[in-house]
Amino acid sequence: MKTNLLKYSVSAAALLIIGSNAMAATPTAAPKTYPAGEVGKMVKLGEDILMHTNTHPLTKDMVGDKLQCISCHIRGSDGKPGTAPGIATFIGTATAFPAYSKREKSVQTLQDRINNCFMRSMNGKRPIVDTKASVAMAAYVTWLSEGMPMKMNAKMPCSPLNSERWMHGAKHFAKIQKRATHANYVNGKKLYEAKCAMCHGADGAGMGTFPPLWGQKNGKWLAYNTGAGMSKLNKGAAWVQSNMPLGQGKTLKDQEAADIMLYVNAQPHADFDLRKALYPASKMGHYNSKVLHEKHSVRSNFKQFGLNVDKIRGDHKIK
Ligand code: HEC
Ligand code: HEC
Repeated sequence: MKTNLLKYSVSAAALLIIGSNAMAATPTAAPKTYPAGEVGKMVKLGEDILMHTNTHPLTKDMVGDKLQCISCHIRGSDGKPGTAPGIATFIGTATAFPAYSKREKSVQTLQDRINNCFMRSMNGKRPIVDTKASVAMAAYVTWLSEGMPMKMNAKMPCSPLNSERWMHGAKHFAKIQKRATHANYVNGKKLYEAKCAMCHGADGAGMGTFPPLWGQKNGKWLAYNTGAGMSKLNKGAAWVQSNMPLGQGKTLKDQEAADIMLYVNAQPHADFDLRKALYPASKMGHYNSKVLHEKHSVRSNFKQFGLNVDKIRGDHKIK
């Protein structure tokens, strides 16, 4: 009893100290209660869509893979989408919007930011801003920041916490990936088979509720495309080191995370063509971006780091 009390007062004191730093104080659970009335209904609808994105009637036609938002914005101990503490948590996200995005060369709303994940991570079509699904998802993500101070972001369309982690992680892993050779690919395959394949499958196609990482089935792509953050050798490694193996985030060494994602992202993923991910202007209305042409492939994603995917793989299987 005494030791417990001591422990409590020590951690309470530690909390007070780090409490002055808004980032360390980021909560790791959703608020305890939903908002009342129509807003609460929207929040719940958004939560449902984030859990079942590729089967939900309001979004299934806009998804071109077998992923859900929760595949990457992982559920925390409260079971809610995006509350896990790793990189890509949604807690604090809404405090940063509207925020600047270099990719679109524009100031993005939270709906814009969410809808862009459909074109890339979900390998699908961008939902139309202000439709029910778009408002509902933004309502849910906003709820997760209730009570947190606003902190506008002039550099990245991400929460203050995530943007710090992405900027650091992307820079750090870019240096490591630029030095990659075929030996790193071979090591990545070996590690993948030892630490990841039991859930994601040796063929990357996923198993049961464990999501796919690459490839096609019956002519349909299974995972994120080459325009997604996860497909970039540096960002993919930063995310995996923070969140995987599931429940054992932060256990992979830098070189291990880098080699595993070198291997994963050298497997077949859909090409990205921005124009094909947008509805025609007559249907979509305004698209809030100054960049209207953007294309990526597995090959170009490797080239971005000065790497030749054929040499890394040791074959010529990537088109
Ligand atoms: C394959 C993984 C993946 C899936 C699936 C995915 N996202 Fe993301 N999402 C990311 C990554 C990676 C980033 C940050 C990347 C960057 O900024 O380059 C991100 C960023 C975001 C952000 C900005 C959050 C912040 O504070 O950093 C929002 C909001 C978001 N996603 C919403 C969604 C929604 C809603 C869905 C489902 C429709 C979804 N995402 C599906 C990987 C994914
Ligand atoms: C115990 C099972 C398990 C292990 C082991 C595991 N994962 Fe995962 N992984 C998951 C689950 C489950 C999710 C999605 C979270 C959800 O649906 O709640 C996920 C999500 C992912 C995603 C994002 C979604 C997607 O499909 O693209 C990537 C990338 C990923 N894992 C890579 C890895 C890598 C690399 C390893 C090995 C270092 C690994 N995982 C080990 C279960 C696992």
